Amino acid sequence: MNIAMLGSGFIGRFYADSLQGYRSKDKIVSVFSRREESTKKFASDYNVAFATTNMEEAINRPEVEVVCISLPNNLHEEAVMLCCKHKKAVITTKPLGRNAAEAKRMLEAVEKAGIFNGYLEDLVYTPKFIKALESVKNGALGRILWAKSRETHPGPHSDWFWDIEQAGGGCILDLGCHCVEITRSYIGKDIKPIEVMCWADTQVKPIDAEDHAIGLVKYENGAVGQFEVSWTFRGGLDLRDEVMGTEGTIWINNFLRTGFEMFTTGKAANYVSEKAESDKGWLFPVGDELNELGYNHMFMDMFQSIEQKKQPRETFYDGYVVNAVLDAAYKSAKTKQWEPVVLDVWRGKSGFTKDSHLQEYDGDHYLVKEEVTHYGAKKVILKNKKSGKIIEKVLA
Ligand SMILES: NC(=O)c1ccc[n+]([C@@H]2O[C@H](COP(=O)([O-])OP(=O)(O)OC[C@H]3O[C@@H](n4cnc5c(N)ncnc54)[C@H](O)[C@@H]3O)[C@@H](O)[C@H]2O)c1
Repeated sequence: MNIAMLGSGFIGRFYADSLQGYRSKDKIVSVFSRREESTKKFASDYNVAFATTNMEEAINRPEVEVVCISLPNNLHEEAVMLCCKHKKAVITTKPLGRNAAEAKRMLEAVEKAGIFNGYLEDLVYTPKFIKALESVKNGALGRILWAKSRETHPGPHSDWFWDIEQAGGGCILDLGCHCVEITRSYIGKDIKPIEVMCWADTQVKPIDAEDHAIGLVKYENGAVGQFEVSWTFRGGLDLRDEVMGTEGTIWINNFLRTGFEMFTTGKAANYVSEKAESDKGWLFPVGDELNELGYNHMFMDMFQSIEQKKQPRETFYDGYVVNAVLDAAYKSAKTKQWEPVVLDVWRGKSGFTKDSHLQEYDGDHYLVKEEVTHYGAKKVILKNKKSGKIIEKVLA
């Protein structure tokens, strides 16, 4: 497919490496970015035929089939509207909008224009995530009770992230969008997020937005999602997920302990991995960031979906739901209360009651727990259904 790339910075280059890196049949044919110098440099690095500092010119070219938005958050909506105007398929980096109102306008516009829309949430396409989600969907963990995702690092790499007007928020929006979509996927994307409790503060950086936050998202079936995000964490990029179900547990460490550890005195200072803070001492390099961060699997899904005229796994609708959850988080951080997630558009299931947590043992009892002790005894702890009395029964 022929791609117009909007933005030639950090993520634009990661995307380009992934799109053109493996003898791909997809090709960036047009690029827009703000400064002529960096636009030309990108065009030369990736062999792009047309380079411009005019956004509409980059989109409105007959050979362009899909537009990839890799621009600062405040420019996503303008770029999406231009794709609607010129009827181009559009894929957009995260977060979709600076808030749910922006995201909803984009969602409605692409659907009205009838164009393909994909939400580039790479962290639900990492090989580890894909495998873990498959296990969850197969029931290996039973009923999902809690899913936690943590993304913390020492802060973003460009000025606009630190400006609340352009970015739309701090680490809640920048990193929380990943965490919410990861945990929401484990709990079930058709389960409605209903309310959020969030603590946020600006602990270190001289900015108007938050640089550290922790939040809880309650789902209609009783499950809870948790996000931990920070722009003040020292030690690199900490990307970890945990899932807890009635039958099992998953722990994933995506970046700092991947089984690849290296020590160097610093003889050949080099790039180690995204947001690594040091290039000497004990290091935790990442073998193939494009793959480990999900970019390859994400673009595979996007482009195959365009070709097969179907929806990708992540659409603007998902981006909108994430923005709505994060809006509630911002509200809660201010009011210090649980705040409802306002979803004017909801396409999942509704009317869930909290799943039954009672496990039948026999006609009179529920099972609390089975135990095997170090002295060889096997026992069960039971609750009488009528009296509520807890008893224990030694089996052997
Ligand atoms: N893992 C991920 O999915 C991931 C990682 C990083 C960034 N992002 C997202 O990608 C988008 C871009 O972030 P980035 O890290 O590439 O930023 P960046 O600053 O490295 O690059 C921004 C690009 O936009 C261009 N641009 C055009 N108009 C601009 C303007 N008015 N002000 C500033 N830049 C302008 C710049 O020239 C540059 O090419 C953001 O929405 C960010 O949230 C996603």
